[in-house]
Amino acid sequence: MSSALVTGASYGIGADIARALARRGHDLVLVARSAEALDRLAAGLASDHGVTARALPADLTVEADLERVADAVPGADILVNNAGAGLGTSFEHTSWADEQRMLMLNVVAPTRLLHAALPAMLGRGNERIL
Ligand SMILES: NC(=O)c1ccc[n+]([C@@H]2O[C@H](COP(=O)([O-])OP(=O)(O)OC[C@H]3O[C@@H](n4cnc5c(N)ncnc54)[C@H](OP(=O)(O)O)[C@@H]3O)[C@@H](O)[C@H]2O)c1
Repeated sequence: MSSALVTGASYGIGADIARALARRGHDLVLVARSAEALDRLAAGLASDHGVTARALPADLTVEADLERVADAVPGADILVNNAGAGLGTSFEHTSWADEQRMLMLNVVAPTRLLHAALPAMLGRGNERIL
């Protein structure tokens, strides 16, 4: 059976995507910062749908964490780059440090994971990237 790695899976749209993939029988790697929420979701998906679900807690704005997730990506047939956030205030009021974190989460992390995923995925015939 195929497997999927979903970022931002602890709540919101990412958790719903993870549930939808588990219903279709995909094994899952669940990524976000909230380890307990990921563990709860992984246990629920495994018992409700009989899939293998693993929590991979990581802060995607932290380079070392991002590399740990990139290491896990080549095993997945489906990559869901869902984690993301805005700063909730106008550009002229944000700090540059906050802008850099947002760019890391919304731009660098999905690009890094796509770069890690593609070589192993191409040619399998069932690869999907969202
Ligand atoms: N909802 C909308 O109307 C809407 C509209 C346009 C685009 N989007 C995009 O769709 C995606 C999902 O939206 P949503 O509404 O479900 O968002 P959400 O409820 O805020 O959930 C965001 C997810 O990303 C994770 N996350 C945030 N910062 C992270 C970090 N530094 N490292 C790892 N994970 C992180 C959060 O988990 P932790 O806090 O546990 O890390 C959570 O699982 C986002 O990329 C959002 O920008 C949403």
